[in-house]
Amino acid sequence: MNILVTGGTGYIGSHTVVELQQQGHTVVIVDNLSNSHANVVDRIAEITGIRPEFHQFDLTDGEKTAAFFTNHSDLDGIIHFAAFKAVGESMADPLMYYHNNLGSLINILKGMKEHGIRNLVFSSSCTVYGQPDDLPVRETSPVKEAWSPYGNTKQMSEQIIRFSVEAYKLKAIALRYFNPIGSHESALIGELPLGVPNNLVPFITQTAIGLRQTLNVYGSDYNTPDGTAIRDYIHVVDLAKAHVVAVNRMMKEAGKPDYEIFNLGTGNGFSVLEVIQSFEKVSGQSLNYKITDRRPGDVEKVWADTSYANEELGWKAEKSLDEMMLSAWKWEQSLAAKKQ
Ligand code: UD1
Repeated sequence: MNILVTGGTGYIGSHTVVELQQQGHTVVIVDNLSNSHANVVDRIAEITGIRPEFHQFDLTDGEKTAAFFTNHSDLDGIIHFAAFKAVGESMADPLMYYHNNLGSLINILKGMKEHGIRNLVFSSSCTVYGQPDDLPVRETSPVKEAWSPYGNTKQMSEQIIRFSVEAYKLKAIALRYFNPIGSHESALIGELPLGVPNNLVPFITQTAIGLRQTLNVYGSDYNTPDGTAIRDYIHVVDLAKAHVVAVNRMMKEAGKPDYEIFNLGTGNGFSVLEVIQSFEKVSGQSLNYKITDRRPGDVEKVWADTSYANEELGWKAEKSLDEMMLSAWKWEQSLAAKKQ
């Protein structure tokens, strides 16, 4: 199958391109490189032996996107990752987030409609649930008032897709990710945050390698066993594999609903301190951290009920927290080795 992967040089996108190619799919990447590097394409080629076609442009540019689709009307499906994802940045500049995340989706849906491309997999997030009333959270749990413009773009995107599927006779799967971490076992691709990382795991590995002085643990007064916030961390390769399953399901299995939503997590919640302990164990490093105030906008605890994805997709996250942390650490070490 010919699959367009938007945001294919990004963190989750690049891991998904690898899995797609290894399963025999042909991949075209579109990325504006706003938060990634062109050399990721070389790394993908190194891992898989296949160099994906790569186009650098911004999907909010309607003319460029339309021209791309005119030249690629033979696509069988699209996995749409390209989006901004920093919660704090979205609070500071909401319009930038609505323009980018919704504008690119609308241009993609237009291209699908005009060229008869029927299948879409969309990167959604557990952020659509806010702080759920009941845990683990199921796909049928209420989507609550958004806590950030970023989260709101994910909620709105799901709605835009739902109505477009109906109106234009498309098929779509929205995948609600919990917290993706870790990197490919080759340590050739991984998470590459520009500047100071917002997310926990890159901050941990950058602190351990000496790029940051101290990790701030945001809050120890939550209503959790050790007082720190709980998340469902999932290995990015497990997550990437779920995209291949979703693509295959839409294209090869008849009789499924036209629009589906799945949680992608492990079903296990870990606190910030448990993540730090796992890192210290697998790396043999002692991490410099201190407890600080809560980070505004953070929810207390969230983890997934994964039974629907497990049963319907026949997919299950396999990697443990220790494996995730070890792969993240190997990636950080490989980045440091390249700088020397
Ligand atoms: C958030 C979003 C998620 C989004 C992701 C992308 C929510 C509920 N989740 O994840 O949808 O895809 O950002 O950026 O909005 N922490 C520290 N110190 C740090 C960094 C983080 O203690 O330096 C803590 C946080 O308080 C949190 C946990 O680590 O409890 C995970 O944080 P992070 O990795 O930033 O992810 P989320 O905020 O859960």
